[in-house]
Amino acid sequence: MSDERTFDYSSEMKDYYKSDEVAENYHEAFSNEGHWRHRLIASRERQTIKNLINKVPNASVLDIPTGTGKLAPVFAETGSSVLACDISENMLQVAESEYERTGVENARFQICDAEGITNTLDESFDVAVCLRLLHRVPSDTKRRILKELGSVADYVIVSTGVESTFHSYRRTARQRILGGDEREHCYETSEVTREIMGDGFTIVASKRVLPILSQEHVYLLKPDE
Ligand SMILES: C[S@@+](CC[C@H](N)C(=O)[O-])C[C@H]1O[C@@H](n2cnc3c(N)ncnc32)[C@H](O)[C@@H]1O
Repeated sequence: MSDERTFDYSSEMKDYYKSDEVAENYHEAFSNEGHWRHRLIASRERQTIKNLINKVPNASVLDIPTGTGKLAPVFAETGSSVLACDISENMLQVAESEYERTGVENARFQICDAEGITNTLDESFDVAVCLRLLHRVPSDTKRRILKELGSVADYVIVSTGVESTFHSYRRTARQRILGGDEREHCYETSEVTREIMGDGFTIVASKRVLPILSQEHVYLLKPDE
């Protein structure tokens, strides 16, 4: 599996989204104009995060990476005060309009690298949410990012991709038939994923976003004292 594989995470993830065109395309894909599959996944992601965030205190939230603000409707409902961060200025600009459009009343925006949160931010949060970043991040970097998230929040909600034979075949078939994004992923097996998630945390809950169409799992973690 991709556990110890090293690949260029920087160019495939950190730098990839630093363009107006990519930011617009990403937003369109997951908005009402997108393909039904993307819209369905986005809606299930929001539902999953909403279910988990409502289990814990959520007055203050760190949303990193916010991307183009997919989770704004969730925070509009919870009434949380949100610091929305991303490494890409282009993504963050779209997020600002999305937060405004959906009526999040108390939101701030800041460039921040998830690998260096404690160097950048001087505040703490009830909960830090990290959606759709770790599935393209090597395991050692996953651990570093989780540690950063756990250092600034009482709870962490994080998604990652869990590998299985079924999903490996599904991806290959999909790629052959539909083509599309060829950037690499960093998926671990469910055992390795649980070990990474449990390193310095108690796993409070875990949910699958959309079992057949997606291998994304979301974890609610409580940092160990
Ligand atoms: C697939 S998007 C996910 C965004 C959002 N959470 C969502 O689900 O729509 C990945 C985002 O991660 C950001 N990103 C990549 N590496 C990052 C890092 N090290 N720190 C902060 N943001 C990062 C990218 O700029 C991009 O906006």
